[in-house]
This record gives sequence, structure tokens and C-alpha cells, in this order.
Amino acid sequence: MSEAQTDRFAQFKLVLLGESAVGKSSIVHRFVKNTFDNMRESTIGAAFLTQSVTLPESNTTVKFEIWDTAGQERYKSLAPMYYRNAHAALCVYDITSRSSFNKAQDWIKELKKQAPEGIVICLVGNKLDLEEEREVTQDEVAEYIEQLNQEENRLISSECSAKSGDGVLDVFNTIARALPIEDAIGGSRARQQRMVKRGAGVDLTRNRPQQQAGSSCC
Ligand code: GTP
Ligand code: MG
Repeated sequence: MSEAQTDRFAQFKLVLLGESAVGKSSIVHRFVKNTFDNMRESTIGAAFLTQSVTLPESNTTVKFEIWDTAGQERYKSLAPMYYRNAHAALCVYDITSRSSFNKAQDWIKELKKQAPEGIVICLVGNKLDLEEEREVTQDEVAEYIEQLNQEENRLISSECSAKSGDGVLDVFNTIARALPIEDAIGGSRARQQRMVKRGAGVDLTRNRPQQQAGSSCC
């Protein structure tokens, strides 16, 4: 992914949750590697990847540490391990599957109860290229979001197609803009200054990532 130079850097943990086969891994691979696989294998456990976006308006590079969880029911108990420290969560459904939309709503309920306060949640409808098979309308999603945001205003929604690539980058840019960048930068500066005071010799100008994108599995 091409990247403009920025002076500021912030890093956040992001988790993807959702029913198996909604396209979580496909969204991540489109975002990180700009590739799509028609026959992608179901994730086992979880996969870890990183990718950055730049926000020119705030002169900031936002690096995402991405946990792509497995949607199969037998891995459900692992999910808290991944969302426990997350700053953002994508709850993904397939626009052609009502059951997957219900499942995404269950994840949102669970996150609201168990995830860190202030987590940015994005409800993402994938497989937008299958518009003619759509089961979940944009109107009902808007209604659902409006209802939830009467309590707290922190849920965003988006649609995309990992297959065509439409909307994928927008999802991550929107999340990056909703994250507490100033707090993250302020916090890490304060940490670095404390380390320098203690003689740890941290170079405060080294605030940019060495690695822009990468992946590993576990
Ligand atoms: P688990 O790892 O089992 O949780 O599934 P997942 O949510 O990661 O789904 P995955 O990315 O493996 O995609 C499942 C299937 O849907 C694959 O065959 C993909 O090729 C297909 N797929 C993913 N995204 C899209 C999309 O945007 N459009 C279409 N038409 N197919 C998609
Ligand atoms: Mg997967």
C-alpha cells in the first residue's frame, strides 16, 4: 500500500469477529495484500497481520495490529482473548445471509458487555458484489445502528466487497478516524519520556514503524 510521509504515528489493536465464511479473512487480505482468493480456507484459531493507513488531515500514520479470528463455533471461546485488549472491532456479516447479520449483532452485544470501554465497533456488511442476492437491507442496518447509538454514540457501519475491493480501505480509514489518536500519541510520548528520565536512552525521534505490513499465523 502506498503511503504518504507523516510526522506522527499511532498503533492500535483491531479484531475481526463474525460467523464463519462471511469473509473476515478475505477483507483482511484485501486490505493488507490487495489480493482475493475464491477458495480461501477457513481460519483455524486466529491469524495476525499488520497494515497501516495514513490520515493526511492529522499528519498521522495509524498502524493496525489485526487479529483475524475463526468464525467456526468450536473456536468461539477463544474470542475474548483477542477482543480483551482491542481498540477496535469489525463485526462482519454477509449481506446475503440474514443469520450472519443476527450473529454480528450477538457479537456487538457481547462486546458492549465484555470489551474495553471506548472500543470502536464497526458493523461491516461484506459481499457487496452479490447485491442481487441481498437479504439484509441498508435501511434495517441504519435503523439498528440508530437504535444502539441512542444509548452510546460509538457504533459505525459500512459495506464492502473483499472480492472487488470496493469499500475495504474506507472501512479501515473510517475506523482510524474514530480512534483516539491524540490520546495514543500523548500516552506513548509520556511513556518514552519516563523511560528517558530513567536512563533507558530511548530516541524520541524514532516514532515511525519499521514494518508497514506483514503477517503471521498462530
Ligand atoms: P472463517 O475463517 O471460517 O471464520 O471464515 P471467514 O469469515 O474468514 O471467510 P473467508 O474470508 O474465508 O471467506 C469465505 C468465502 O467467502 C471464501 O470462499 C471467499 O472467497 C468468499 N468471499 C469472501 N469475501 C467475499 C466477497 O466480498 N464476495 C464474494 N462473492 N465472496 C467472498
Ligand atoms: Mg477466516
